[in-house]
Amino acid sequence: MKHFLTTEDHSRDELQSLLDVADELRRDPVRADLAGRTIALLFLNPSLRTRSSFEIGAFQLGAHAVVLEPGKAAWGIEFEPGVVMDGDAEEHIAEVAGVLSRYCDALAIRAFPLFKDWSVDREDRVIRALARHATVPVINMETIVHPCQELALMRAVQDQLGRPDGKKFVLTWTYHPKPLNTAVANSALLIATKFGMDVTLLIPEEAYRLDERYMRAAESQSTAAGGAFRVTTDIDEAYRDAEFVYAKSWGCLPLYGRPEEQSALNAKYKHFIVDEEKMAKTADARFSHCLPLRRNVKATDGVMDADYCVAIDEAENRLHVQKALLLKLMGE
Ligand code: CP
Repeated sequence: MKHFLTTEDHSRDELQSLLDVADELRRDPVRADLAGRTIALLFLNPSLRTRSSFEIGAFQLGAHAVVLEPGKAAWGIEFEPGVVMDGDAEEHIAEVAGVLSRYCDALAIRAFPLFKDWSVDREDRVIRALARHATVPVINMETIVHPCQELALMRAVQDQLGRPDGKKFVLTWTYHPKPLNTAVANSALLIATKFGMDVTLLIPEEAYRLDERYMRAAESQSTAAGGAFRVTTDIDEAYRDAEFVYAKSWGCLPLYGRPEEQSALNAKYKHFIVDEEKMAKTADARFSHCLPLRRNVKATDGVMDADYCVAIDEAENRLHVQKALLLKLMGE
């Protein structure tokens, strides 16, 4: 494994091996395998879980994590090639990646889309530029996909349901006043289909379909793994017999870069909130969300406080799966 940019680059067996090591690390959390190693964590956007779980995870394995916030407490970075750098950025990713590769054994970055032009954002240029210039492994801490969250989710699915093949997984769009990143939704489809689940994508209307790249990947991975994949706008149909309900809000791509219009469309679908009534239609499903979550907007207090809500378990899993990843990428 060279980099960890998207789970599409890795086989189910490779990912399962990380999930198995994560399970071992949950029982035996403090080890010295990575003593003396270093990782740089570059955050271009805020974080609670990702930052704390990577920093703590590195510490528990004997490594040190350096947190950098380009544009705040570190110099702003230019990621495009061939640019006359007469704007705000003080240095180019070529030098940033080169220097940090001399100091560190791995680099990780969070770089959300700019939410102006999806045809540009969908190319994931920032992390691709870092991976091109780095001479050490690069980890995606969320760009247009969130592969570490995928591992944490699949760990939670396996902890709750056992073997995931054929289990009914629903990814439901849920309301949020702002148009959010599609990364976690893209990722939920990728991981659930890769592991052969019976996957339903519930959206309010066609405008909320995810990028065709991920829709096609979901279809092909599902076929290869012997699972199923369908899209519906019917809430009752989606929740009926579900075994795992996963919620996420995202901005619709046809209105990308027009946040007021996206928010106005979102507001038509406040009833997509995950509530006790919808969960009662399921086959005693577990519920989860990547967090952060606005209570009583995306999911009700009743859902978040129910025994079937495993969102905190999934967040805990971030620590275990990322430690497994650090051992894989920095320990070899
Ligand atoms: N789920 C997740 O990545 O959380 P943070 O944005 O707090 O890191």
